[in-house]
Amino acid sequence: MTTSVSAALKHWPFADFLAAGKGLGLTDPPVIDGPAGPTVVRDGRTLANFASINFLNLQDRADVQRHFLDGIARYGLTTGGSRMTQGICRPHLELERELCAATGKERAISFASGLLANLGFVHAMTHHMNLGQGWEIDNQDAVFVLDRDAHWSLWKAVENLTYGRQLFAFRHNDAADLNRILSRLEGKKTVVVFESVYSADGTVAPIGTLLDLCERHQALSYVDDANGFLLYGAENRPFAAEFDALRRADFVMVSFSKSVGLEGGAIAGPTDPMLALELLSGTSMFTAAMQPPTASTATRIMRLLRTEPAIVDDYLRRVAVFRERLAEIGFPPHSTPSYLISVPAGDDATAVELKDSFLARGYLVPVFFYPAVPRNKPLLRLILNAGHTEEHLDGFLRTLADLGGRLGLGGAR
Ligand SMILES: Cc1ncc(COP(=O)(O)O)c(C=O)c1O
Repeated sequence: MTTSVSAALKHWPFADFLAAGKGLGLTDPPVIDGPAGPTVVRDGRTLANFASINFLNLQDRADVQRHFLDGIARYGLTTGGSRMTQGICRPHLELERELCAATGKERAISFASGLLANLGFVHAMTHHMNLGQGWEIDNQDAVFVLDRDAHWSLWKAVENLTYGRQLFAFRHNDAADLNRILSRLEGKKTVVVFESVYSADGTVAPIGTLLDLCERHQALSYVDDANGFLLYGAENRPFAAEFDALRRADFVMVSFSKSVGLEGGAIAGPTDPMLALELLSGTSMFTAAMQPPTASTATRIMRLLRTEPAIVDDYLRRVAVFRERLAEIGFPPHSTPSYLISVPAGDDATAVELKDSFLARGYLVPVFFYPAVPRNKPLLRLILNAGHTEEHLDGFLRTLADLGGRLGLGGAR
């Protein structure tokens, strides 16, 4: 079959852009066959996988798979329409109720992804909507204050707000800087946005301290808990104080693509804004929702993680041991002991060599380059998978020590 390419495309310099980035191996993704989990079959080769955000690997459980199939039989494959035109499908309603129970919030709304939850929230909180007959809302006077390292989806959501008037940024995890900004916004309709756990380097927000400031300055708080959801907060887990404080946030956003290992996102918060979000977010009414079996299985997994806390406890214990072993071989990870493990990988050229050498030896190890991290400060961003065997971990550490020695990285011994 012949394909036609418009001559007008010459005005967009995509070809030059792709050619310039070819060396990084990011411009034409390899093909994956079979499920992506602790291992992955990529272009026909089986690799130990340190890239998957489905780190609890619950999709491997027979009961989870059965539940998903049962969800198809009971609810079908698609919602087939929006909540406004048809109504809320039962599995979405149950998911939202479960999320309310988990977060201590009154009401929740689900979206097809976490990104759409973030975009929809900011849209609803900053827009003017006139539906006629006196049914009108004007939120254009809202002000957003974001942590500088907030996720791409959050910065995308606020990109039309005028910086310095409707939009401010505070230094990453810096409560004093947030306080300085909020002091200047006294009396404004302000929303403070930060993450619980930051995906690039695994840092954790001082959640309680930041929420104290929001309360003191009467600003609303919106915490993107995509990466921390269902992992932390219990007494015997890391970051207990930070995550217990999360219950005080006005709004908590979650993604179901991380600990839950499916796809979708949601926001939990007070009843009125949550109900209004269905109408005002745009990303609820004007796009597809989570598929019903996915929503139903997300609820099932949330309950599973509550009733079988050993799933997360064991995982976090293995993460802690793995971090210690990285330090022992001269690659101490970022000092925040979260499950998102980042290790400096030299400069860009060394990091590309490291990544390629890992691949050649059977390990898929992601490297984060700019803009995910500052320029020429690439990071190995490792995610241990609950399905990794000890052989996977031993082999990875041996390979890192060897490659590190060859490339002059870390304090390799
Ligand atoms: C902090 C943060 N927020 C939002 C998202 C988007 O979530 P989703 O993958 O469900 O769209 C991600 C995913 O990478 C994330 O790390």
